[in-house]
Amino acid sequence: MPAFTATAPGKIILFGEHAVVYGQPAIAVPVEQVRARVVVDPQPRGQPGTLRIIAKDIQLDAWLDELPTDQPLVVAVQLVLSELKIERCPACTIRVSSSIPVASGLGSGAAVSVALLRAFSAFLGRPLSDERVSALAYEVEIIHHGTPSGIDNTVVTYAAPVYYVKGQPIQRFLVPLPFSIVIGDTGISSSTSQSVGDVRLALQAEPDRYQAYFSSIGEIVEQARRCIETQSIQRMGQLMRENHALLQKIGVSCEALDRLVFAAEGAGAWGAKLSGGGRGGNMIALVDEVQAASVAQALRVAGAVSTIMTRVR
Ligand code: PMV
Repeated sequence: MPAFTATAPGKIILFGEHAVVYGQPAIAVPVEQVRARVVVDPQPRGQPGTLRIIAKDIQLDAWLDELPTDQPLVVAVQLVLSELKIERCPACTIRVSSSIPVASGLGSGAAVSVALLRAFSAFLGRPLSDERVSALAYEVEIIHHGTPSGIDNTVVTYAAPVYYVKGQPIQRFLVPLPFSIVIGDTGISSSTSQSVGDVRLALQAEPDRYQAYFSSIGEIVEQARRCIETQSIQRMGQLMRENHALLQKIGVSCEALDRLVFAAEGAGAWGAKLSGGGRGGNMIALVDEVQAASVAQALRVAGAVSTIMTRVR
């Protein structure tokens, strides 16, 4: 039996985070520069049903039955076994590695789940469809996020730009003119479920105000999609500024994110905003390709611990 390998890219939300949890659209794109990788190695001499999980990045090396049942890797393994109605799988080792920074809005949890679901189901001889991979990765996301919108598992599974509305079939869209994004990492790890939970409490306290913020974000997302489709890239920069201002009002920005957004715009980006759960993690800047390197440099001077330049196409 050969080894089975699958990889999945990171992702970044361009527009619409938080509002997407309440039914507004969002746009997210894959980030191919960072990836999760899962290799399933058969252990022909091992006892059937024995499964070892090794994830060096998180200092994990254990037998499946030694791990807590709600550990996300364990959940992903069990989801595949129950989906395929397999009670005892052939002995194997599952190796997980990833270059996607964790807890920073780059979809690391979803990418690991997608790669694992694909590699493990292929190892068992019944590779899952994209639709099932995305649905099962969503189940794992519930552990990471509490009430995920489903955008992470969707964009990571399909590895393509998506326009996403919770509960609706995904819409892929064309990017006729590729554009450049610089991603800056504050280095502050932040919990998405915490920020989503705080926004929920704020919404309960002031429903009208928060619903108005979410609708405004939804309108920005619609306009941004039209900008991408009509190649009005600079106008999209202005929309990023507006989206960031609304996220500040919602209470999910922080001093470090605002500082990086300010630095990117000062260095010539067309617009910038936080991306993902906020309160740390990443921000993005929309740039002319020739300015990408100088905007990345300005971000590092302003305190970014790392930057990634990516082309959206
Ligand atoms: O980019 P992340 O993984 O931090 O995603 C957060 C996006 C939210 O809209 C805040 C939550 C969600 O589930 O969509």
